[in-house]
Amino acid sequence: MADAFPSSQPKGKTRFKLISLKEEGLERKLALAFGFMSIIPILIVWAWAKMHQVDMSPALYAVIASVIIGYFLVARPMISLVLKVTKKVQEFSTGHFTGTIEVDERNEIGELARSFNRITKDLEHKIDELESSRQLVKRLLARIGAAMNSYEGIDNLLNLIIENSAAALEAQRGTLMLVDGEKQELYVKTAWSNNGQTADANLRLKIGEGIPGLVVKERRAMRSTGKSSSLGFSNTHQDEATVLSVPLQLRDHPLGVLTVLREDAERPFTEDDEMLLGSIGSQMAVAIENYRLNLDVERTYLETIMALALAVEAKDPYSAGHSKRVGYYAMKIGEQIGLDEEMLRTLNDAGVLHDIGKIGIKDEILLKPAPLDPDEQKIMQQHSAIGEAIVRPIRSLSKVVALVRHHHERFDGAGYPNGLKGEAIPLGARILAVADTYDAIITDRPYRKRMSIERAKDELRRNAGHQHDPAVVEAFLRFVEGKEERPASAKSQPPAA
Ligand SMILES: [Fe+2]
Repeated sequence: MADAFPSSQPKGKTRFKLISLKEEGLERKLALAFGFMSIIPILIVWAWAKMHQVDMSPALYAVIASVIIGYFLVARPMISLVLKVTKKVQEFSTGHFTGTIEVDERNEIGELARSFNRITKDLEHKIDELESSRQLVKRLLARIGAAMNSYEGIDNLLNLIIENSAAALEAQRGTLMLVDGEKQELYVKTAWSNNGQTADANLRLKIGEGIPGLVVKERRAMRSTGKSSSLGFSNTHQDEATVLSVPLQLRDHPLGVLTVLREDAERPFTEDDEMLLGSIGSQMAVAIENYRLNLDVERTYLETIMALALAVEAKDPYSAGHSKRVGYYAMKIGEQIGLDEEMLRTLNDAGVLHDIGKIGIKDEILLKPAPLDPDEQKIMQQHSAIGEAIVRPIRSLSKVVALVRHHHERFDGAGYPNGLKGEAIPLGARILAVADTYDAIITDRPYRKRMSIERAKDELRRNAGHQHDPAVVEAFLRFVEGKEERPASAKSQPPAA
């Protein structure tokens, strides 16, 4: 059947266009269907009554009334519900609908609406999960980026990766075990647990032993069950848990194994989890290998410049052992001030390396057996900046760099290379300056004889507040005087020349 609509023709030339019933909405189709279903029987009854001269009016009114009741009370609400569901589905598909469709119907349409509600709820849950994964990856990348830039060391970076990987996989424990190549064993490199518990650092597993050992031996990921004690966590969750382990390897060379543990044994890890952890493991393997290579390069470089520092001293018999003694005195001053172990190590390294830049100074200036003229002094003064440039590439000595550069600054601002004044000079450099001066005073020089310790102490006192930081001088004098008061057997000796 068809319906007629005015077309968009010019005014005065109204035309009608036939539209297929297929294009009609459900509501209109229903009205048409009811119309036909009721009009035809009514016409038949009316014609029959006419022919037989019978009064069928009550029957006709009853038919018409039942048609109207059927349409408005049954068919129309049902179609309205279908339309409502259709509209919501459309809104959902275009992203403009959240929530549920409210229906009380207990029929197929009601079930359709409830199914739709369940699907949308599931989808919303999945979307939330995806969003939280996205945020997690974003946070993970930001934190890894910060760790990389700050270069707080590979341990910090690995800890971050373990913690975030475990969190991403909703696991409560995570460990990274590395292969000790010499012993063919696995040891715990780093571990994380959601309650802050640390793993047993002494745990050692043979290759092939336990889940991590098997993963390394067979070089494939494994999903299984186990106890957290098998990963080095004791006195925690003792029930069976689900475990996911992936191998870390580089060019078929096994480096270690990354394992996460989920306490809920009813929620085993999936293939997707395995793929995610495998991907993280591959990146970790590359990071660890790069770190080891860099470490090797750095170690070689460090050994080379340490040898260079000794070579510089060897050129000048008067300065033999000077650098090591400066490191020793600097550490002793640091102890008096109460500096931590790390800073004491930095002071020792800086003492050994403080004059490394002299390698770049010509021998006729470096070894001149007389005081330097102003031009020569200028050249000589370059050694602190040259030293800084030599030490800078070694990231493990990053805190030594400024100390080497500024060890000739003066407290009153008249030093070099930057003329820094007072506390603007790094504390370590102020300490080195005192140690350096003291050792220079009490050792022979080409142009003068060594002075006594008493004379050296007087010299330092006299220069406190001018060349040196008074607090550092005071700390050094405390050390020297404390040493003098102790019996000879208890004295800690500076390195021999
Ligand atoms: Fe120097």
